[in-house]
Amino acid sequence: MSKIIDIKDLSYIYLPGTAYQQQALNNINISLNQGELLGLFGGNGSGKSTLAKLLNGLIYPTTGRVTVCGIDTSIKALRNDLWKKVGLVFQYPEQQIFESNVYDEVAYGLRNLDLSESEVKSRVYEALKRVGLIPNSMVNLSPVKLSGGVRRRIAIAGILALEPEILVMDEPMAGLDPLGQKLMLDIIKARQENKTQTTIIISHNLKDILALADKIAILEKGYLVFYGEVPELLNHIDILSKFRLELPDYLQVAYALNARGIKTNSEINNLHEAGLELIRIISSQKGKF
Ligand SMILES: Nc1ncnc2c1ncn2[C@@H]1O[C@H](COP(=O)(O)OP(=O)(O)O)[C@@H](O)[C@H]1O
Ligand SMILES: [Mg+2]
Repeated sequence: MSKIIDIKDLSYIYLPGTAYQQQALNNINISLNQGELLGLFGGNGSGKSTLAKLLNGLIYPTTGRVTVCGIDTSIKALRNDLWKKVGLVFQYPEQQIFESNVYDEVAYGLRNLDLSESEVKSRVYEALKRVGLIPNSMVNLSPVKLSGGVRRRIAIAGILALEPEILVMDEPMAGLDPLGQKLMLDIIKARQENKTQTTIIISHNLKDILALADKIAILEKGYLVFYGEVPELLNHIDILSKFRLELPDYLQVAYALNARGIKTNSEINNLHEAGLELIRIISSQKGKF
């Protein structure tokens, strides 16, 4: 597995040297392999969005280094290359929709990529399908008339259409109703099934994404207080209780079975999948009890 993101001793200060100076990140070290999904958590103001902006070169490290797909993000001349590799979905992206129809909105970024119009069209249609929308019934609609949840999916389609190697989503679940949240999880899950694409999901609610994540990073006031794989988090009772984190019951069962030597798939995303896995284990253990 090759390292696709390498964050080394990263610190970031807003407005350095002024009365408003604000240290948003302190000495952060994170690395991610291609195909992994990182859940980035932390309360308000902990530095999550700052880290997202550092990943696609919107801002540069004050000290330390961020390397993405082998590109040092501080090198301004490589900014365009970086922009093609890292798709960043801002928090509340539905507020930044400005084209008059859905097609042009999804096609907006693609039009900077030197593609033929037929390639643009096929990518727009494919991206709309990936976010669960039916292209033919959507492309001519005016985004302003659609619900916030649908507008968010359109904004995400616009980024997915660029087929970024790395996708960073800042609070994708925020403000959505349970159905909207489930649709969003399905989009993330579908992306994760493609093992070559790397994804970072930012959230202030760990439970949202825990079952999908390979690695977890937790920020507190600009400091990285936990970084590791999901099962490791279970051993950190201090962090679990401090952040009032609770694993979904089915994951607790899967990890507990594994810890007792009963090989259990912990890549389960819901109760239904957990039930199927339990049935599989029980049938394979027949006669052993
Ligand atoms: N543009 C900015 N100028 C000055 N300070 C900022 C700016 N954006 C964020 N900050 C500060 O940096 C810290 C981290 O903010 P942010 O990365 O937005 O946190 P989060 O996304 O976790 O809520 C906060 O203290 C915030 O006030
Ligand atoms: Mg934020």
